[in-house]
Amino acid sequence: MSQIRAAVTGVNCFVPEHRLTNTDLEKMVETNDEWIKTRTGIEERRILKDKDKAAAYMGSQAVKGLLEKTGTSPEEIDVVICATVTPDMMFPDTANLIAYENGMKNAFTFDLGAACSGFLFAFNTAARFIESGAYKKVVVVGSDKMSAITDYTDRSTCILFGDAAGAVLLEPNDEGNGMMDSILRSDGQGAEFLYQAAGGSLRPASHDTVDAKQHFIYQNGRPVFKAAVSGMAGVVQEIIAKNKLSPDDIAWVVPHQANLRIIEAVARMADFPMERVMVNINKYGNTTAATLPLCLWEWESQLKKGDNLILTTFGGGYTWGAIWLKWAY
Ligand code: UT7
Repeated sequence: MSQIRAAVTGVNCFVPEHRLTNTDLEKMVETNDEWIKTRTGIEERRILKDKDKAAAYMGSQAVKGLLEKTGTSPEEIDVVICATVTPDMMFPDTANLIAYENGMKNAFTFDLGAACSGFLFAFNTAARFIESGAYKKVVVVGSDKMSAITDYTDRSTCILFGDAAGAVLLEPNDEGNGMMDSILRSDGQGAEFLYQAAGGSLRPASHDTVDAKQHFIYQNGRPVFKAAVSGMAGVVQEIIAKNKLSPDDIAWVVPHQANLRIIEAVARMADFPMERVMVNINKYGNTTAATLPLCLWEWESQLKKGDNLILTTFGGGYTWGAIWLKWAY
């Protein structure tokens, strides 16, 4: 009997209309287009301006289109997992709100953190649900309204992040396509370099936490940069060697979009030509849990059944990993 694997059977995204350009940022903080482009590769990011809408809205929009596109009825969905660091509220989970909004009455739902690796970790979790045979249709959403936790007076972080959501449908596949292998890692030593200090149970919201700007992202960029390069290059090389693949067997590398220089360094170390590495950071910046589906969505028409993809991420925690995925349509 052939092994059941979890394959992507559709992908859809939502990006807000408003574009925050480098020129706009020049008017807000001491920065310039040249620095941002050469140090990060970012030219603009999308911002969800509507104060009454957040991660659940963007995720719902992405999922709505996904169901339409794949001809799936909401009642057929068994599980919804939403990766996010910017949930609408601490609870209920954003996945819960997305499922309700889309009429997914038979699904159980939950959120997953893991920062910029959230989508990868959620994807692996969903794939294991499918492989177990217990569930047939699992939706994985990555949705982050990063503008809600970005300090637009801090030039070291406000140039980096954007808002977006993406979603994939995972279903069983017996043709040999789908998730072939995954390597996921975490290291709490990274906690001091990238975090949002307040809003959790350690430092609940107070006048003091607001005054100290502790509800915004804090990042010490240089150590994160170094760890991101060695972390992603390491797992990409490891998953390729473990499965006796060579870079020539891989159609596309799909990396987390945090910094173009990180992506280029990982490609160099893993011996991949940049022509086969998906890059759209110039248009969206770092959208945290949405970067991978945003890439899959934009490249969908170029992907062929049986294509080998390596998805890789690095994020706060630290968290990182790689997934080898065979495209199924
Ligand atoms: O997605 C989760 C994981 N996150 C990442 O992977 C991000 C990893 N880190 C990075 O991508 C980079 O470290 C940053 C893009 C955040 C920063 O780039 P960098 O090359 O590491 O710059 P830096 O922080 O070392 O700063 C270099 C200089 C500093 O000036 P001095 O001290 O050399 O005079 C900064 O003050 O650049 C200055 N600088 C800026 N200048 C103009 C920092 N931000 C800006 C800015 N505009 N926006």
